[in-house]
Amino acid sequence: MRSALYVPGSRPELFDKAMSSCADVVLIDLEDSVPPVAKDRARAAVAAWLGAIRAGGPRIWVRVNPGAIGETDLAAVALAGVSAVCLAKTESAAQVHTAGSILREFEPCPGGIRICPILESATAVLAAREIAAVPRVDRLQLGEADLCADIGVDPSPDDRELWAVRSQVVLASAAAGIAPPLGPVRTDFGDLDALRASTMALARMGFRGRACIHPAQVAIVNEVFTPDPAEVEQARALVARFDAAGGVALDDAGRMVDLAVIRRARRLLTNSA
Ligand code: COA
Ligand code: MG
Repeated sequence: MRSALYVPGSRPELFDKAMSSCADVVLIDLEDSVPPVAKDRARAAVAAWLGAIRAGGPRIWVRVNPGAIGETDLAAVALAGVSAVCLAKTESAAQVHTAGSILREFEPCPGGIRICPILESATAVLAAREIAAVPRVDRLQLGEADLCADIGVDPSPDDRELWAVRSQVVLASAAAGIAPPLGPVRTDFGDLDALRASTMALARMGFRGRACIHPAQVAIVNEVFTPDPAEVEQARALVARFDAAGGVALDDAGRMVDLAVIRRARRLLTNSA
C-alpha cells in the first residue's frame, strides 16, 4: 500500500477515473471536500456506485464524517468492496470502538472492513497509542491542516514543525504492531519536485505510503515507496552472508552486520514482497 488517491464523494464522475489510476487505494471522501448541503446526495451516490462495483483494480476506502453524520455514513458504506473506512477527526479509542460496532451491524462479512483513524488534533495525537491498539485499526493517518489550526503551527516549507508529531505517529503504530502510517496530502499538486522531496523525507521517517489528491501525484508517491531493486538485492545478499556466517559478519564496505542490521534488511525484503 503506497498511495491512496482522494476523490470528493460529491463528484461521482471522478470515481471511475480514480479507479483507472495507478493508485493502490481509491479513497472516496464524504468529509471536508463535500459541502454540508451535498452530504446526503454524495452518500447516496457513493453507496450506489459501491453497490455496482466489480472486483479488481485499486482497493476502495471511504472517509467518513465525525459525529452523527459519520454514523449515517458508516451504515451506508459498509458494503462489499470497501476494504477500509477512514474516520475523520478521531479523538479517542472509544470512537473507534463505536465505529466498529456500527460496521459490525451492517458489513456483509464480519470484521471485513478495516479502520484507518485520522488524527487531526492535539488530543488525537496524544491518544495515538490507544487508538492504534484497537483491533480493527489497519493504520493511522495524520490530518495536518486541522492539526496545525488546533495547535497553532504555521509550517516552514520543509514542515520541520511537524516532524516530532509525525514521528510520534510512526512510533505509536510500531508499538501497536500495525502498519506504518499513511503520509499527509500535499495541496500544492502542481509542484511535483516538492512532492518527491517531502515523500522521500516521510519514507526515511518510517511512513510507508501517502495520501494524494491529484492523479499526477500517484506515480511519484508509488515510485518513492517502491523499494529500489538494487537495495532489495543488497539486503538479500546481506541476509545470506549473515546466515552463512552464523552471527556477526562484515558487509562489502567493511561495516559490522549484526542482528539489528539484519532485522532492517528483512523488513525491506518483506516490504518488497
Ligand atoms: N481523482 C480522479 N481524477 C482526478 C482527480 C482525482 N482526485 N483530480 C483530478 N482528476 C482528473 C481531472 O478530472 C482531469 O481529468 P480530464 O483530463 O479527464 O479532464 C485530470 O485529472 C486533470 O485534472 P486537473 O485539471 O489537473 O485538476 P482539476 O483542477 O480538475 O482538479 C482538484 C484539482 C484539487 C480540485 C482535484 O484534484 C480534487 O478534487 N482532488 C481531490 C480533493 C479531495 O478529495 N480532498 C479531500 C481530501 S484532502
Ligand atoms: Mg481535514
